[in-house]
Amino acid sequence: MTTESHPGLRERAAAALTAARARTAALTDPVTDQDLTAQHSPLMSPLVWDLAHIGNQEELWLLGRVAGRESLHPEINPLYDAFEHPRSERPKLPLLGPAEARRYAAEVRGRVFDLLERTPLEGSALLDDGFAFGMIAQHEQQHDETMLITHQLRRGEPVLTAPEPEAPYEAPLVAEVLVPGGPFTMGTSTEPWSLDNERPAHPRDTAPFWIDTVPVTNAAYEAFIADGGYREPRWWAAAGWRQIREHGIEAPLFWHREGPGDGQWLRRRFGVTEPVPGDEPVLHVSWYEADAYARWAGRRLPTETEWEKAARHDPATGRSTRYPWGDADPTSAHANLGQRHLRPARAGSYPAGASPLGVRQLIGDVWEWTASDFLPYPGFRAFPYREYSEVFFGPEHKVLRGGSFAVDPVACRGTFRNWDLPVRRQIFSGFRTARDV
Ligand code: AVJ
Ligand code: FE
Repeated sequence: MTTESHPGLRERAAAALTAARARTAALTDPVTDQDLTAQHSPLMSPLVWDLAHIGNQEELWLLGRVAGRESLHPEINPLYDAFEHPRSERPKLPLLGPAEARRYAAEVRGRVFDLLERTPLEGSALLDDGFAFGMIAQHEQQHDETMLITHQLRRGEPVLTAPEPEAPYEAPLVAEVLVPGGPFTMGTSTEPWSLDNERPAHPRDTAPFWIDTVPVTNAAYEAFIADGGYREPRWWAAAGWRQIREHGIEAPLFWHREGPGDGQWLRRRFGVTEPVPGDEPVLHVSWYEADAYARWAGRRLPTETEWEKAARHDPATGRSTRYPWGDADPTSAHANLGQRHLRPARAGSYPAGASPLGVRQLIGDVWEWTASDFLPYPGFRAFPYREYSEVFFGPEHKVLRGGSFAVDPVACRGTFRNWDLPVRRQIFSGFRTARDV
């Protein structure tokens, strides 16, 4: 595909970069300098690291690799290389301060806009369809989600606000949906800004399976807790049982109860404590918690292949669509994406975003843990760098699908793959369950 056959590509790339920077500003402008440089959790970088890392990746890829320019400040490059310094060590590095980081990211952006006006968007794999610009917009949005996780972990007065979701809602007709067995196409070879691990499109076969119409809710998860789910080793994978014992875990992260025993569950959400809403998808659970719940419920997590088939396969045409609702880009009628809200919408929302078989909320709201390890598709080729996906392939990472309320549409597709360690629970993770026929 060429620029000529895609009018508006430059404008789309510019708009995606601008939207990402507006979100970065919204996540960092209301934060004091002291809070920007503090470490709010050993799991996370200081926000000021993310800020300069966003600018640094943009510089290295667009001004360096695409335009062939020298680094503006070569001495800072190693500070912002995620593989050189683990998150827990980043506060001790001689990082750019908040004002310097903002100035640096803005300087890079100014030069990137000059480049975007002049450079052909074809002729190399990095330039075709404006891929490198789309990749960098997605990268910034991914770090914006990371920064939102840091906000959730941060103690102190709330600094972020957003309207409550007033999402279109229809009570789901059925609790689960039967997905017929047979072949479908997984992954993509045509989505212009898809990342290397989503490629290539390839055939997969599944047996028929049942999958939940909506993600597992807080009320359903509370029933697991009330039934002694966290005290029954038989529901838990061995390593999950060790984790909950060792850390005294007895509920999703950020949940607590006032008195001993059976008081109402409360949660802390971006600095506000509130009752846990029963009808909302459960959030901040580890893969182990999702796996244990599913076993308790007599069910299992869907495999990644099943998840994607439920989300993309249209039984009427045999085609795989970009999203559950078809090929159109997401709107606020389809899904809770883009940090429009600071929470998931209640289960049963967005009937217009349902799949042809009626599965809801596959996109947005909560990342959904799948049963699957993060592995390459047949024919995978690392592009443009091994450190995006390839170095993370293997049984230690589990795949999450569908995106959360904190994921921007530019970084979310029916084919998009996320991954994390099965112990992680600060991420915006939930799940739905499945069963064999
Ligand atoms: C795809 C979300 C797992 O944040 O670790 C950001 C994305 N890669 N910078 C991450 C990413 C490099 C990545 N995840
Ligand atoms: Fe990064």
